[in-house]
Amino acid sequence: MVSIRPGPVNVGGIQTPNHLLLAAGILGTTGASLARMLSYGAGAVVTKSIGPEPKDGHAGPCLAILDDGVLNAMGLPNPSKDFVEEISPLKGKPVIASIYGGNPEEFAMVAEWFRGSAAAIELNLSCPHAEGYGAAVGSDPHLVEACTLAVSRLGMPTWVKLTPNVTDITAIGKAAERGGASAIVAINTVKAMRISTGLRRPVLGNRYGGLSGKAIFPVAVRCVYELYESCHIPIIGCGGVSSADNVLEMMMAGAVAVEIGSAVYSDVRVFETIARTLYADDGVPAHDLVGCAHG
Ligand code: FUM
Repeated sequence: MVSIRPGPVNVGGIQTPNHLLLAAGILGTTGASLARMLSYGAGAVVTKSIGPEPKDGHAGPCLAILDDGVLNAMGLPNPSKDFVEEISPLKGKPVIASIYGGNPEEFAMVAEWFRGSAAAIELNLSCPHAEGYGAAVGSDPHLVEACTLAVSRLGMPTWVKLTPNVTDITAIGKAAERGGASAIVAINTVKAMRISTGLRRPVLGNRYGGLSGKAIFPVAVRCVYELYESCHIPIIGCGGVSSADNVLEMMMAGAVAVEIGSAVYSDVRVFETIARTLYADDGVPAHDLVGCAHG
């Protein structure tokens, strides 16, 4: 397996010590857990998504661990503006605030709360099971462009996390690019469900949820590959990454870095585990690999 030369990376307008970032929604609800993931080798960390009003989330069960993935329908639970205090002790660290809103004005308001405490903003335009938010907004290219512009014009690095649950993800990626995004994050979870044959009812309280983990890695690679052919801004690969070889594959598809989420459930030190295999002082420069699978 090829190795990459270690060293600082510029990812969508911020500097990180490596290519391995913590994805939104995993151990991202407190400043302490985010700090812990940085100390365990994450190059940057993304918070749980924060919205314009406090939200309790969906009725449980909210999470099901499957053979090859994780099914969740948390329902965007968050304390809203109070969360800013959680990450203020991490000022200066590579902490990215994930935010959601129902329209451009709400996105701009929430992003503004994080000015000075977050290194970048990641727009959640992709949660597949939140009425009026997430993919409900992020499936419409016009809304994606407007929400992205509302945040990018504030002057903070602006990442846009895309849903795979659309016919043409490149139309959404191009809309984010027109809105001034600094990077695209691809992908959020795949809309999915399971039914308990014993109970004869859906497993999740919300019935539908989002599938993450190894099962969606091929979907994520396909989306990154398609976006690389259509967009010119950096792409951060996300979705089922769990090994150094997965990171290389994402890079060859076109990603400049990756976000890792579900793999943290089975190895809380997954960033260090992957880095041990991925990096070597005599490795190749990462930029030699980014997009190299394209003809
Ligand atoms: O339910 C949730 O909080 C999930 C959010 C997401 O998938 O973005």
